[in-house]
Amino acid sequence: MALDRKAAPNDLNAFWMPFTANRQFKQNPRMFVAAKDMHYTTADGRQVLDGTAGLWCCNAGHCRPKIVEAIQRQAAELDYAPAFQMGHPLAFELANRIIDISPKGIEHVFFTNSGSESVETALKIAIAYHRARGEGARTRLIGRERGYHGVNFGGISVGGIVNNRKMFGTLLAGVDHLPHTHLPAQNAFTRGQPDHGAHLADDLERIVALHGAETIAAVIVEPMAGSTGVLMPPKGYLEKLRAITAKHGILLIFDEVITGFGRLGSAFAAQHFGVTPDMMTTAKGLTNGVIPMGAVLTTAAIHDAFMQGPETLIELFHGYTYSGNPIAAACGIATLETYREEGLFDRAREMEGYWQETIHSLRGLPHVIDIRNMGLIGAVELEPIPGAPTKRAFSAFLKAYEKGILIRTTGDIIAMSPPLIISKAEIDQLIGTLADVLKGLE
Ligand SMILES: Cc1ncc(COP(=O)(O)O)c(C=O)c1O
Repeated sequence: MALDRKAAPNDLNAFWMPFTANRQFKQNPRMFVAAKDMHYTTADGRQVLDGTAGLWCCNAGHCRPKIVEAIQRQAAELDYAPAFQMGHPLAFELANRIIDISPKGIEHVFFTNSGSESVETALKIAIAYHRARGEGARTRLIGRERGYHGVNFGGISVGGIVNNRKMFGTLLAGVDHLPHTHLPAQNAFTRGQPDHGAHLADDLERIVALHGAETIAAVIVEPMAGSTGVLMPPKGYLEKLRAITAKHGILLIFDEVITGFGRLGSAFAAQHFGVTPDMMTTAKGLTNGVIPMGAVLTTAAIHDAFMQGPETLIELFHGYTYSGNPIAAACGIATLETYREEGLFDRAREMEGYWQETIHSLRGLPHVIDIRNMGLIGAVELEPIPGAPTKRAFSAFLKAYEKGILIRTTGDIIAMSPPLIISKAEIDQLIGTLADVLKGLE
């Protein structure tokens, strides 16, 4: 029997929507019912240009033929295989393909189902790695203010966004935070990496002096902080973090959930910035956002530290029912093939200049206090309405949607991260429409 799929359901009550103003949404719902390449179709039949690659994930655009076909074929051939003590070839193939595009020195892949799970997995591996090497006192985790590492307890503990933390009790113990790198007074309207702020990495030395390096397992940062409002790493900052962590035997984890798979014009931000961490967390673009999947990438040194003792014993007591799920793996392989065949990482790099000039043309429009960009990411920061933070950007989001473009807001920052297939004409449409929206804002 065919499923009765109504474009406009008549009862919106049951579904408690994530990270959404539920009551506002349900009074005036915004529903997508179809998508193709750069566009969504709304329930009332309008085309909306996707300025955010869904949620930073559909890097190849929507409903791409190779990905659709791979999922359909795999669903009919091998729907599920147990993830523990059993395998299937596609998960191994995908792991190898990820390593092929990873920085030198990254050699192993642990599959998860989301960015949040990748973060939890990496934090657990970091602590367990030190213990396996006889340094069991290294349990502290260092994150950064304004960091976003998903929504599970480890991720919100090392994360630094107050609304994601304050409702949820005491979080993990033994966590500390680096200062964030947002320096609007010095760096506003920077194109690419800002000049000021490398010294903020030196704060790690203060944290080490406070706690003792022998108690610290890992530092986790987003190489480019996305969900907090697009904060680029200052020039020299990541290099410093790498040097200080290496000096003290602390693992460096890059959360590449947004920056992975071409967003900055390289496969990963690690290559873009020329800084290789010990672990990388990924998700989103790994499967073009189509089937939930994440992956933690590690060095051989980390992996090999666990490969000791009797060979019949499980080495790491961690994993998910859906780790390396066959349909997700087929989707991941087809996604990586699409990126490669269409040269999409290079394309992001080639389009960066045009994107940069177009987005910076918004300077001088009402309420715009900063514009920043890198790869195919851009942010426009608005002056908040006094006493009503977030309201101005949210009304920009609603107006933009009415005018046929999808943008994203966090606080009073508008963030854009279009699919890497975006054309110059579509960049003009996206930024031109946003300019109209900004001109009409209160
Ligand atoms: C850097 C980073 N880490 C982790 C996550 C969490 O990913 P997910 O929503 O798939 O759990 C996100 C999501 O935006 C992210 O941007």
